[in-house]
Amino acid sequence: MFTPDRKQVSRPVKGRAFLVSLAAGGLILCSAVMAADGPGLGKHIDESQLQGWDLIVQPDGTGLPEGSGTAAQGQAVYEQSCAACHGMKGEGSAGVPALAGGSLTTTPPLMTVGSYWPHASTLYDYVRRAMPPLAPKSLSNIEVYQVVAYVLQLNGIVERDFVLDRASLPQVKMPNSGNFIDRSQVQ
Ligand code: HEC
Repeated sequence: MFTPDRKQVSRPVKGRAFLVSLAAGGLILCSAVMAADGPGLGKHIDESQLQGWDLIVQPDGTGLPEGSGTAAQGQAVYEQSCAACHGMKGEGSAGVPALAGGSLTTTPPLMTVGSYWPHASTLYDYVRRAMPPLAPKSLSNIEVYQVVAYVLQLNGIVERDFVLDRASLPQVKMPNSGNFIDRSQVQ
């Protein structure tokens, strides 16, 4: 019968214990170095670089940039950058949501910017940060005002010459705005 030799059994165990203590020692050493100099990851950014990420637009208009645009101006932007996916009149296509029309009373309901979204600010915020999906943030702030005005016009919410800007956008009344419950104060 094979009887394991104590020495043979204990050797690998000792080896592991040694490795563990080496790793632990390394960690302590690393954290001491990190505490002194920082982990050496990333780099400092300044205010102007931060602006490219600080894109939140709130319903009261906070966060909207300078500039303005009308639906008449936005039609060209829309046809060039959006229509291929969302359709010429915002009707959507396979796998791409409709941006205009829709209704919450059909079965199933069709939720669009016009039938569902409570605030026009969300449209500015979302388009500026995410659309078109293959080149997000490629539109200028003014082009975003223009194309947002056009999407609102496709939904019959603003006229073709309505000037959308920092002051007028929060005043735009979205058709479904009254049908939400404000739970923002609920803890
Ligand atoms: C390459 C195709 C494509 C292009 C071009 C494109 N979109 Fe989209 N868009 C999408 C897809 C896909 C979604 C759904 C994304 C999701 O739900 O995550 C979407 C979502 C949206 C939504 C949200 C709709 C909703 O009810 O959830 C808006 C608004 C929108 N796009 C506007 C635009 C505008 C304005 C442009 C042009 C500047 C544009 N999109 C260009 C594909 C596209």
